[in-house]
Amino acid sequence: MQIESISLKEGADQEGFRNAVRCLIAGDVAPERVLWQTASSLSLFDAAPVRSDVAVSLPRDVADLISKVVCHTDNARYALLYALVWRVTHGERHLLEVHSDPLVFRLALMAKEVRRDIHKMHAFLRFRQVPAEDDRYMAWFEPTHFILEAVAGFFVDRFPSFSWSILTPIGSVHWDKTAVRFGPPGQREDVPATDAFEAGWGDYYASTFNPARINVGLMRQHMPKKYWHNMPETNLIPELVRSAGSRVETIMAKPVASSRKRMPKKALEARLDAGPRTLAELNGIISASEPFVQGGTRAVLGEGPMHPELAFVGEQPGDQEDIDGRPFVGPAGQLLDRAMQEAGIDRSKCYVTNAVKHFKFQQRGKRRLHQTPTMGEVKHYRWWLEKELEFVQPKLIVAMGATAVMALAGKALPITRNRGPAEFDGHAGYITVHPSYLLRIPDAGAKHQAYAAFVDDLKHAEKLAHTFRAA
Ligand code: URA
Repeated sequence: MQIESISLKEGADQEGFRNAVRCLIAGDVAPERVLWQTASSLSLFDAAPVRSDVAVSLPRDVADLISKVVCHTDNARYALLYALVWRVTHGERHLLEVHSDPLVFRLALMAKEVRRDIHKMHAFLRFRQVPAEDDRYMAWFEPTHFILEAVAGFFVDRFPSFSWSILTPIGSVHWDKTAVRFGPPGQREDVPATDAFEAGWGDYYASTFNPARINVGLMRQHMPKKYWHNMPETNLIPELVRSAGSRVETIMAKPVASSRKRMPKKALEARLDAGPRTLAELNGIISASEPFVQGGTRAVLGEGPMHPELAFVGEQPGDQEDIDGRPFVGPAGQLLDRAMQEAGIDRSKCYVTNAVKHFKFQQRGKRRLHQTPTMGEVKHYRWWLEKELEFVQPKLIVAMGATAVMALAGKALPITRNRGPAEFDGHAGYITVHPSYLLRIPDAGAKHQAYAAFVDDLKHAEKLAHTFRAA
């Protein structure tokens, strides 16, 4: 058996892997014939020839999985991924749906670990001002996986107007307000130890710390100690934890009028009365507000262009969406992507959001179990959704599932009897099922039929929206 040796750059060599896959698939090279290795510096002779003439068509969920797993530090990642590509391109196109397949299971776990690492970097990285330089900031971070390229866009979006550098033991990333550059590893000592914002972070954290929710084990699990030294506010944790008991008693002794349920709404009303003038302002308010549902950690905002033909509204973010901070990226989102593709709809041209902006869940051991939001909770979030859609101005709003319908119609309507074109407060709408419902149908035949009807709904909605544009 002739062995093909493929050398890729150290770290997450997305482009190198893609190119190698094109070469190997074009040469019909089976996975067991490939030896994958990584090297810090590749000579021209090591690298596979560039094959831009060969296209390997992969389902979007496979491409997404590859982009995450390539960032994993497991040396077997490229071999595992190529085994997946081989099977997907050799008769097992929907392999990722077979969650029990050992390869799929292992890769899904690796992707999850990378997503978690990305989430931790988004959440726990803290910039410090470089002394005597007004406009320059630095941060130190220790990621577990090769995620620098994967996170750079997030920090550029959030901090476009000052120059910054993020140093890590595996490489660095620099933004000069116009372009991103990746560089060699850095040292923690190169980053300023403290700055004037430190006190501000502490005050902010102390004011948002909820003593009634304190669970030290869980807190360590979500915010491992290795990140604490980067985060000025964590100096306060020991004292806040010590005083949590008495703070809970103080809170419980307060009259009902100041209970958690009413406070955020009032505060929110006041802020909304001032009137967000843009979607960005509204999103700022949503992100800063207390979750109104049990469990919710961060707000997951809608995403997509303004004035789209279609806006899709789901129920609430799930576990994966809560980790990634983006709507419909987990299993239901992947099914939605596939159905959209089959209906000829380009997701990037649509606006996608949820009726409820936080993940409502119950913790069971390590698992976070989805809980359906109540009518009251949906009503609470309805304001935001209405405002959001006012800004976005889609031609047609697709309500997926009962919660979205409740939020858009203002009352509960059975899906089966109302499925199809609808009107939400004078706005053109369309009612269909939620993709999670399709995932839960146990019988394969029934599932297939329900999925085909969902794709038909999407096609119908798209046609309707198109008519509005032409009119
Ligand atoms: N289900 C939803 O309703 N929304 C998401 O974003 C994900 C799953």
